[in-house]
Amino acid sequence: MRIYQTKNYNDMCRKAAAVIFSQMILKPDSVLGLATGSSPIGVYQRLIEQYNKGDLDFSMVKSINLDEYKGLSCEHDQSYYYFMNENLFKHVNINPDNVNIPNGMVKNNDQECARYNEVIRRLGGVDLQLLGLGHNGHIGFNEPDEAFALETHCVKLAKSTIDANARLFDNPDDVPRYAYTMGIKSIMQAKRVLVIVSGEGKADILKKVLTGPVTPHVPASILQMHNDVTVIGDEAAFSKIN
Ligand code: F6R
Repeated sequence: MRIYQTKNYNDMCRKAAAVIFSQMILKPDSVLGLATGSSPIGVYQRLIEQYNKGDLDFSMVKSINLDEYKGLSCEHDQSYYYFMNENLFKHVNINPDNVNIPNGMVKNNDQECARYNEVIRRLGGVDLQLLGLGHNGHIGFNEPDEAFALETHCVKLAKSTIDANARLFDNPDDVPRYAYTMGIKSIMQAKRVLVIVSGEGKADILKKVLTGPVTPHVPASILQMHNDVTVIGDEAAFSKIN
């Protein structure tokens, strides 16, 4: 595991974007596993800047997103489809046919999970998986549980996740209770994993993830077992680790 501590959020984003940049330069048809949330916004801004300078080409990139709220359509401004479009896709030359996100509007869980597992399989897995870290240690929407969920599944969101995401909805009751998420096995099968963590609010969980036991109660702790993980976090996120 390679660990980089940065001064602040901006520096974290600069370094994380550099990892994605080099992945895309070396393998222009990379399969990028992408995340939503507050953490990657600055990373995507950096990638858009590089694209506008003519240094990055997304035309052959394939993307696969970690998760999507169940019940939100792609037009809903809190759907992860909408987020990805607003924060990255509509600003770069990615081919819409190469964009993959679970479809939150499919009611039949088995059907949508099987479809998404097949998408992952057909792409040949993920070259570089970008991950944010939930306050409870979740990655994607793999919430703390008694066992690691391996493949794409529909998850009941933890109360702490609903509370953390309520800030983004007009009414806290509007936060969806369920989501589709890629499973731990699919994340662990990514060739490389890049984790970004920012802010004091993540300091306790980051310590558990990096120095605690590997347990499904802290889903991100499984990353200790992956052979190519880069963690980039700011000083505040590392403040509980000596
Ligand atoms: C988002 C996702 C989540 C977030 C995590 C951190 O696609 O899969 O695991 O990465 O909840 O969110 P932020 O970055 O908003 O703190």
